[in-house]
Amino acid sequence: MNVVNNAVNGNPSQEVNQFNAAGELTHLLTLEGLPKEHIAHILDTAQQFVSVTDPSREVKKVPLLRGKSVFNLFFENSTRTRTTFEIAAKRLSADVINLDISTSSTAKGESLLDTIDNLVAMQADIFVVRHSTSRAPVDIANHVPSHVHVVNAGDGSNQHPTQGLLDMYTMRHFKQDFRGLKVAIVGDIVHSRVAKSNIHGLTTMGCEEIRAIGPESLLPSNLDMMGVKVFHNMEEGLKDVDVVMTLRIQKERMAAGQVPEGDAFFRQYGLTPERLALAKSDAIVMHPGPMNRGVEIDSAVADGPQSVILKQVTFGIAVRMAVMSIVAGN
Ligand code: CP
Repeated sequence: MNVVNNAVNGNPSQEVNQFNAAGELTHLLTLEGLPKEHIAHILDTAQQFVSVTDPSREVKKVPLLRGKSVFNLFFENSTRTRTTFEIAAKRLSADVINLDISTSSTAKGESLLDTIDNLVAMQADIFVVRHSTSRAPVDIANHVPSHVHVVNAGDGSNQHPTQGLLDMYTMRHFKQDFRGLKVAIVGDIVHSRVAKSNIHGLTTMGCEEIRAIGPESLLPSNLDMMGVKVFHNMEEGLKDVDVVMTLRIQKERMAAGQVPEGDAFFRQYGLTPERLALAKSDAIVMHPGPMNRGVEIDSAVADGPQSVILKQVTFGIAVRMAVMSIVAGN
């Protein structure tokens, strides 16, 4: 079965199963339906790994994945996710292989699952997969032998579970508890796998209120059903929130003619210091990156005292260490 053809043809993908027969998390594919105790366990484990990655520590390594091979398979571009997965795997003492997709035999017509079979034959233990096709990591997880683990590093506009987890880790770090927290997510939510993972994860963790702010064309139609409050007016949506998460407009997932004009978007939905002042005075500003300054966020906010954007990146290392060590059975 060719996973890409399946998705292109609109056929439903296989069932998502992240757990083995013993009920252990063996893949991380989605935060949708991931029980609270598993999310809490990942965040708590990440907290322990933060000390391993502390700059003051002389040897920033633990031997949990010694002898294991982690294959980074990024079929879409990445700066933060690919690099922090590599750092995380190396901190866990794994061997890391970054497959260069542009020079791989994918270009000669080899199917995704044939590529996977060959990498399993090279004794891969963990695949970290980013793909433009939603649920491609699910199909890989359903295909590989049971000793091989798959971590979704972002699939189409579906899920980005480790980004959702590192975002929740950041919120918990600065705000202590999800209960009582009001989180506003602003911008292109319909194409955002980050927003979806955050909505699922935050809902599971008991976040008091999740708001979605943006024009109708950039918001999914099922937000009400997910318990998310919808705002088309930025000023109303930001009032008294604890967390503001802005998102990039994902032009690569839009048809020609659908892309909003940057200046017009910024005028209505750009996060400026004046608009941020409507949120709580100690609100934090988050962005998964990459940022488009002057489109969804003003530089004065991105670089301002309430921004925790670069802390998110740093916490991503510990969160990804936690995820890989847990799925690998440590
Ligand atoms: N947040 C995120 O996924 O960034 P990259 O695309 O750089 O990995």
